[in-house]
Amino acid sequence: MDETLIATINKLQDALAPLGGGSSSPVDLPQITVVGSQSSGKSSVLENIVGRDFLPRGTGIVTRRPLVLQLVNRRSNKPATANGGELLSLDDTSNKAEAKSQSEDNAEEWGEFLHLPGQKFFNFDEIRQEIVKATDTETGGNLGISANPINLRIYSPHVLTLTLVDLPGLTKVPVGDQPKDIEKQIRDMILKFISKPNAIILSVNGANQDLANSDGLKLAREVDPEGSRTIGVLTKVDLMDQGTDVIDILAGRVIPLRYGYVPVINRGQKDIEHKKTIRAALRDESSFFENHPSYRSKAHYCGTAYLAKKLNSILLHHIKQTLPDIKMRIETALKKYQSELASLGPETLDSASSIVLSIITDFCKDYTGMLNGDGSKDLTTAE
Ligand code: GDP
Ligand code: NA
Ligand code: MG
Repeated sequence: MDETLIATINKLQDALAPLGGGSSSPVDLPQITVVGSQSSGKSSVLENIVGRDFLPRGTGIVTRRPLVLQLVNRRSNKPATANGGELLSLDDTSNKAEAKSQSEDNAEEWGEFLHLPGQKFFNFDEIRQEIVKATDTETGGNLGISANPINLRIYSPHVLTLTLVDLPGLTKVPVGDQPKDIEKQIRDMILKFISKPNAIILSVNGANQDLANSDGLKLAREVDPEGSRTIGVLTKVDLMDQGTDVIDILAGRVIPLRYGYVPVINRGQKDIEHKKTIRAALRDESSFFENHPSYRSKAHYCGTAYLAKKLNSILLHHIKQTLPDIKMRIETALKKYQSELASLGPETLDSASSIVLSIITDFCKDYTGMLNGDGSKDLTTAE
């Protein structure tokens, strides 16, 4: 049931995408938005959470469109089902992840883009290529940015069901013939996403930089001054000076956040060049925290696996809290579209909007059933 909630939110996200995408959708869906300065480690954190390499890499602003990344947990060793399969417990997921080698996973992990319906990507290099292609097509040649999101869903037995939005990193210097106001454009785009009250802000900061000067955290605090819907991630803990650690930050003595901070270690540039696998990186991450004098006693609350669990539970909690409000907003939006369409007359009904309308209508029915406790209806088979 819990996982179904996130799956339903995912479907709503897809259905509402044609109405203007994540940032201007009429319904403010709970989602986790990743914010941080360029090279703080945002992409690395996302890839570690997914357990696969699939994001474009490089210098400069690589992420130039929002990426709405919907992770769907599905049971291993079973044919794909429309509803994403039955769900594993957390322990099951991690055991299975350990038991299987990366190459064996290919048939049971795949991605699907909303803009390429029906096409399954089993090769994660092709997912990366498609993200690059979809970015270039939308933004043209000059490395500009666009607020129109790419929606990617990844099915895997090794992920927790979770929705994350990757945004361009905060940057200062335009490159090439990039628009001169690129910094402001990126800032405005990030603000649009994180100022929504239902946005959970995943603030990614390098542990080897001064937290008080973090541009991402500054921006987060503009829209969430109490730190009540911001969760901090501290990357590059391995690059900190000898004898220093992030204990004061974890203890809330620097910039307190209600959900706290999770320290992680991603692959460094050398690791990536030497093709270190994410699985190996996750193992090294665990042993780093388990063996480090500062973190040993709290290793359970450190690292990517803990971060993913924490995000999954924060998102669920948040969705449950906001359900009644979401339902009301969907109903209001639905009424508005219905009357707009009615006023146009049946012959002017453009097929795209009528498809969107029928999808939203279906979701409203599902939602109403869910809120009324009608658990018998399988919400995830609406495809
Ligand atoms: P993004 O621009 O925020 O998406 O950052 P990336 O994920 O692309 O990371 C930027 C650079 O920092 C890459 O060279 C990564 O290999 C490196 N990096 C990220 N996280 C860590 C970390 O925890 N430790 C180390 N040593 N390097 C990291
Ligand atoms: Na980067
Ligand atoms: Mg990136």
